[in-house]
Amino acid sequence: MFDKMKFWKNNISSSSLRERADKIQEGAVPSHVAIIMDGNGRWAKKRALPRVAGHHEGMKVVRKITRFANLLGIDTLTLYAFSTENWKRPKLEVEYLMKLPEEFLGTFLPELIEENVQVRMIGDKQLLPKHTLNAIEKAMNETKDNDGLILNFAMNYGSRAEIINAVQNVLKDIKSGIIDENQLDDELFSKYLMTCELSDPDLLIRTSGEIRLSNFMLWQLAYSEFWFTDVLWPDFTEEHLADAIEAFQNRQRRFGGV
Ligand code: FPP
Repeated sequence: MFDKMKFWKNNISSSSLRERADKIQEGAVPSHVAIIMDGNGRWAKKRALPRVAGHHEGMKVVRKITRFANLLGIDTLTLYAFSTENWKRPKLEVEYLMKLPEEFLGTFLPELIEENVQVRMIGDKQLLPKHTLNAIEKAMNETKDNDGLILNFAMNYGSRAEIINAVQNVLKDIKSGIIDENQLDDELFSKYLMTCELSDPDLLIRTSGEIRLSNFMLWQLAYSEFWFTDVLWPDFTEEHLADAIEAFQNRQRRFGGV
């Protein structure tokens, strides 16, 4: 179980945040929150630091937000850590981003285990360097029996590629008679996506003022609530997550109904 008292004692002295967290938990807490963590580069540039310094600071925020999401009782937190398009970045930056999972998990895995977090990943594993994949798979293995927050990293993830791959597998299964084409509906198609074991995000957050999806969970976000902020990811705090969830709790979700 997540030790709430320990969390407040070790991490946050703010009693107003604590009150907000209690209040949030009285309402409907989004089961799945997905975040496009944007603005690391700009955060670094503002401080005349190399871009990778922004990514490093962003990694620390991942820890902070994971713990707070777990405390709030969110079931799944999906974080867009590297897109299929991010390979276009300078080689040194890509190399740095590929080292971050090792650094993050090398440092925080014991804490994630203690807090009952289950690590997962969506994305194309094939192009990931061995050291990156090994670190993620080790964490997945060591946390597979945990039943607290699912911390789902989107790593070398691209939604269009995911959908194309799903269509190819659907066609194969129709051809070989495993499914009938008339059976295909939203629910069945979802089973062919990398998120087949997860619910769709209830809430999508994007930081840094960009208002776009950037090839992220295009199918899964069909009915999600969106929340955008100008805050750069390294400056994102528990308070900002609380802002997003409070806004979510004030929305009326109709899923196409009235
Ligand atoms: C986008 O900001 C951010 C990324 C491409 C990387 C996100 C990665 C992290 C926050 C760290 C991940 C941590 C783990 C544990 C894997 P940007 O570089 O595009 O920022 P900019 O738009 O200001 O240039």
